[in-house]
Amino acid sequence: MSKELSFQYRGDYIVNLHQLRRWYRLFHPMVASVIVVPDPKNQYNLMPAVWAYPISAREPYIAVGVAPERYTFSLLKKASEFTVSILPSTESRLIRELGDVSGKDVNKLDRFHLELEEPLSNSVPHIKGSIAWVEAKLEEIIERPNWDHALFIGRVLIAAASKLAFDEAELIWKLDSPEHTPASWLGGDFFVKLVQGEKVR
Ligand SMILES: Cc1cc2nc3c(=O)[nH]c(=O)nc-3n(C[C@H](O)[C@H](O)[C@H](O)COP(=O)(O)O)c2cc1C
Repeated sequence: MSKELSFQYRGDYIVNLHQLRRWYRLFHPMVASVIVVPDPKNQYNLMPAVWAYPISAREPYIAVGVAPERYTFSLLKKASEFTVSILPSTESRLIRELGDVSGKDVNKLDRFHLELEEPLSNSVPHIKGSIAWVEAKLEEIIERPNWDHALFIGRVLIAAASKLAFDEAELIWKLDSPEHTPASWLGGDFFVKLVQGEKVR
């Protein structure tokens, strides 16, 4: 019996989320950011990561879930700092392509003709053209033998956002054009087109 046929249903709902395998996609779309990490071979490596998310606001902390087979995993194990770049949705294809190759095999900065810009607080630059970025100091790694991703926890040192893309008064993305919208991944080959937020109060 194929996996698809072994799902359980309750009325209109697929309820067997274990066999669904990609259950986490219920939580997508999420911003598809790019982790920049020091690399002795390529100077810096770039890894798209949709599992890069805030875990504490007042004391600012970010977690990045990285699978052990990624080259970035081995680099983060040795790193003390990393930076997270948020690119506009107009760069969705670039983000996909960055995720199709490994820094083990190619220098992604050269391959995709990307430039980096100087950091403000740590020593790890961000991608030129980012609409926002976060510079972090790596403080902790949480791993479990049965997990397929480890959590790299960083203390956020600075967070910067483009005035054109981010509303300073409301502290929200403007989403008024694809250039002012963070690239967001739905799953598989699909990115989303976010539209302007709606006030519900
Ligand atoms: C949109 C997108 C999001 C991704 N998110 C993650 C993620 O959160 N964690 C992860 O380990 N891999 C993620 N990946 C896969 C890695 O980016 C991909 O395997 C990449 O080639 C690894 O590069 P590296 O070997 O140079 O580290 C994602 C890929 C894409 C395209």
